[in-house]
Amino acid sequence: MTRRAVVRGTGHYLPERIVDNKHFEQMLDTTDEWIRTRTGIERRHFAEDGQTTSDLGMRAAQAALDKAGLSAADIDAVIVATSTPDLTFPSVATMIQSGLGIQRGFAYDVQAVCAGFVYALANADAMLRAGLADRLLVIGTETFSRIMDWTDRSTCVLFGDGAGAVVLEAAEGKGDNTDRGILALDLNSDGRYRDLLYVDGGVASTGTAGHLRMQGNLVFRHAVEKLAATAHLALDKAGLSPEQVDWLVPHQANLRIIEATARRMGLPMEKVVLTVADHGNTSAASIPLALSVADSRGQFKPGDVLVAEAIGGGLAWGSVVLRW
Ligand code: ACO
Repeated sequence: MTRRAVVRGTGHYLPERIVDNKHFEQMLDTTDEWIRTRTGIERRHFAEDGQTTSDLGMRAAQAALDKAGLSAADIDAVIVATSTPDLTFPSVATMIQSGLGIQRGFAYDVQAVCAGFVYALANADAMLRAGLADRLLVIGTETFSRIMDWTDRSTCVLFGDGAGAVVLEAAEGKGDNTDRGILALDLNSDGRYRDLLYVDGGVASTGTAGHLRMQGNLVFRHAVEKLAATAHLALDKAGLSPEQVDWLVPHQANLRIIEATARRMGLPMEKVVLTVADHGNTSAASIPLALSVADSRGQFKPGDVLVAEAIGGGLAWGSVVLRW
């Protein structure tokens, strides 16, 4: 028998304020048409003043608990993926832990930018397999609007705020790829590419939060090449082929990257979960948001094979294969 991390519930939260592409036409040399055709993004949500990353994450976590039919007292551990924490410390995870009223177990943050949720799932899977937790909340939550340079048209039109969460629960499986739950993971990073996508501030350098800087076209090329490769590797580890995939749940950065990845995997777009038009790039929140939105639409059936993949600053990238 093998301990498997099975998804018991999903939830998400998006701030109420929705900003469409036209908004940027008034302040920058850009157009709705450019943003739509180059990225697939039509609108995004922005947090209100004073609304923090932990506020968003807590609402998503509560929604996931409600969906799972569980209460905070059932949770052993909280793992949060974020690059936009409320404070330098304590972790967003401990803030959400106390906000939900959880008084036991452990909580910590993982920072792998847009790949953060895949890294957080890998952490949760390892904790669960090691017997350190039976039920975990894994949350991706971001307020990237706080690190935008609003004069830089090549970045500020791309990102949005939001949060998604899943409850993972231990279940006994047979140990083969017919089990429900996380079947395989693939994680990678290569710090030689750290200058392609970074924030130009921080505690130990400038003492400021800084602004996001990106060489978009170079990141684009790495994304197209690396995302299909990591998805294939994780599928190989799971002993599954792309034909057996029911749903691709990609990081929602750019529709053209998503289409290229699906093409390289031989998957039709009907098998791809898409939220990029409505959310923009929400970094570590993008995959759990997409999971929760698709789940609430009833898109996943028990037994479906899902592949989620992401790449972001670092560069850091990876993928996960799970059976719903
Ligand atoms: N409106 C109008 N023109 C623009 C805009 C804009 N908002 N932004 C850039 N341009 C211009 C550029 O200035 C450039 O003009 P030039 O030719 O006169 O110099 C032209 O458009 C082409 O620029 P490129 O950067 O080559 O455009 P590209 O087709 O590559 O699209 C984009 C840019 C959308 C950023 C794309 O490269 C991309 O999506 N990259 C990957 C982003 C990503 O996936 N990031 C990973 C995760 S993010 C994270 O980890 C935080």
